[in-house]
Amino acid sequence: MERRLEGKVAVITGGASGIGEVTVKLFVRHSARVIIADLQDEKGKALCAGLGSDDVASYVHCNVRLESDVKRAVDTAISLHGKLDIMFNNAGIVDSFGSSILGEDDTTAVFERVMGVNVLGALLGTKHAGRAMVAAGQGGSIIITASLASVVGMLGLPVYSCSKHAVVGLAQSAAAELGKHGVRVNCVSPGFVATPLAVAHLQASEEKVEALGEVISALKGVMLKAEDIAEAALFLASDKSRFVSGHNLMVDGASSVTKIF
Ligand SMILES: NC(=O)c1ccc[n+]([C@@H]2O[C@H](COP(=O)([O-])OP(=O)(O)OC[C@H]3O[C@@H](n4cnc5c(N)ncnc54)[C@H](O)[C@@H]3O)[C@@H](O)[C@H]2O)c1
Repeated sequence: MERRLEGKVAVITGGASGIGEVTVKLFVRHSARVIIADLQDEKGKALCAGLGSDDVASYVHCNVRLESDVKRAVDTAISLHGKLDIMFNNAGIVDSFGSSILGEDDTTAVFERVMGVNVLGALLGTKHAGRAMVAAGQGGSIIITASLASVVGMLGLPVYSCSKHAVVGLAQSAAAELGKHGVRVNCVSPGFVATPLAVAHLQASEEKVEALGEVISALKGVMLKAEDIAEAALFLASDKSRFVSGHNLMVDGASSVTKIF
């Protein structure tokens, strides 16, 4: 089997569940050593245990809203493996179901909660990974999970849409600054994927989330899976994308650029 991440070390935030979990498994299959940084300690540790030897995957408790936690996740990669090549800023949360700009929610609290994880978390991850990569002088790849909501406004998700638009700007700005150090920064943007986040948010079964994804996509007869996002992240993480930076890679079956009804 091709080992596209041989010798590379990655930190994956939100790596205990959903897209992050599937990406951890794919990166390990491609011979990366991975640090899973998440809040779900039991799930994260169980995932590591299932991947074999201690050297392959390690878990660190990390709330991406807290700079000290994000720094510790990056420092763990350096202390265990001597370097960091890939930072996947993937942890994310959504507004409560059917949020409204006109609604009764505590707008400031929702904004601080969602932006804190989705934007500040990605900013802190980019900062600390960028510092480690620049200091090592070997380049690197930083990836942020954005969303279909990074290029269109999602009904019922005003704050989430703000947050995902924001991380595209973050990636572009960081790409501009870190490029001279050989550090690439990109986003990957999923359509609907049947993860615990989407299932809880849409209050629907996995099958219904997948079917909804197919309805909004121009591609018919194909269900978007977390594995598809992991493959896109693998491309951006690997040297196959060595001249790709500042890009927002849509994995949405053309949902964002077509209107099919
Ligand atoms: N599932 C979809 O349809 C979809 C679509 C577009 C974008 N996304 C994005 O994909 C990313 C992954 O989401 P998912 O669908 O796999 O959901 P998920 O809920 O399965 O996984 C998200 C992970 O992030 C972790 N997390 C949440 N807050 C955190 C924090 N403060 N610190 C550290 N970890 C934290 C959770 O514990 C969880 O393990 C998110 O950024 C999400 O916005 C998902």
